[in-house]
Amino acid sequence: MLLKDRVAIITGGGRGIGRGTALRFAREGAKLALVDIEQAHLDETARELEAAGSGAEHILLRGDVSSSADVQGFFDATVERFGRLDILVNNAGIGTPPVPIINMPEEAWDRTLSVNLKSVFLCSKLAALQFIKQKTRGRIISVASQAGKTGYAYLTPYCASKAGIILFTQAFAKELGAQGINVNCVCPGTIDTPLLRGAGVGLKMDDATFNGFIKNVLPAITLGRIGTPDDVAKVITFLASDEAEYMTGQAINITGGQEMH
Ligand SMILES: NC(=O)c1ccc[n+]([C@@H]2O[C@H](COP(=O)([O-])OP(=O)(O)OC[C@H]3O[C@@H](n4cnc5c(N)ncnc54)[C@H](O)[C@@H]3O)[C@@H](O)[C@H]2O)c1
Repeated sequence: MLLKDRVAIITGGGRGIGRGTALRFAREGAKLALVDIEQAHLDETARELEAAGSGAEHILLRGDVSSSADVQGFFDATVERFGRLDILVNNAGIGTPPVPIINMPEEAWDRTLSVNLKSVFLCSKLAALQFIKQKTRGRIISVASQAGKTGYAYLTPYCASKAGIILFTQAFAKELGAQGINVNCVCPGTIDTPLLRGAGVGLKMDDATFNGFIKNVLPAITLGRIGTPDDVAKVITFLASDEAEYMTGQAINITGGQEMH
């Protein structure tokens, strides 16, 4: 088992990539603190953990990753329950409805930057403080995006937030290297989750619309298929494990070859 008895906080653990990561971490022996703003999402992940039969210990923490009070509560509850922390996965994020920047409401900009980027600062700061207190070599892994490496028209705040995660990762990795704390991020491409199907912006695409959308995207994907949450979870698991001990400050593409730099 790659993560036997490691204690991990996974934000956005209620759905999509966060749920996929929770399931894979459980299989690898981790103990989980799952954070989400939606209780129903957390409950469904808990059901899937039970169904998978991993027996992984887990707690469910409802709250908003962009609220410093909520974030403090997630860390306090995790350490109270498990006595320590080894891994933080900053996964929670939202999309923005496609809007030209000249029409972008200020609130949409602020909310996207708060949920996607400020949350990474709030959670990573508390994780680092906990690792330093424990004198342990912790891991911080954030979920950025290929949209943090290449700009996509009409998704400006999303792209800016994800590019911010990549440079936050590099700078924080340099701050924490001397303590043996590894800070990395992943940059997924087109991954089949509720967010991709429109839920991130309060919509739900019907299957015909989704299939049409995917047909347009596929020519850009070298491996010829869209990704699954588990495609991303496998790389996050590797980065959380001892196998990635000599990697820090990296932004790893998981795009089937859609993004190559
Ligand atoms: N799906 C993709 O194609 C794709 C591609 C690149 C990057 N990403 C990134 O991966 C991450 C996960 O995306 P997903 O596709 O699994 O999305 P999703 O919408 O399926 O799941 C995200 C989860 O985060 C939770 N969440 C949202 N806002 C929150 C908040 N303020 N506080 C706590 N929890 C919150 C949601 O309730 C949901 O359960 C995001 O950061 C997203 O930007 C996704």
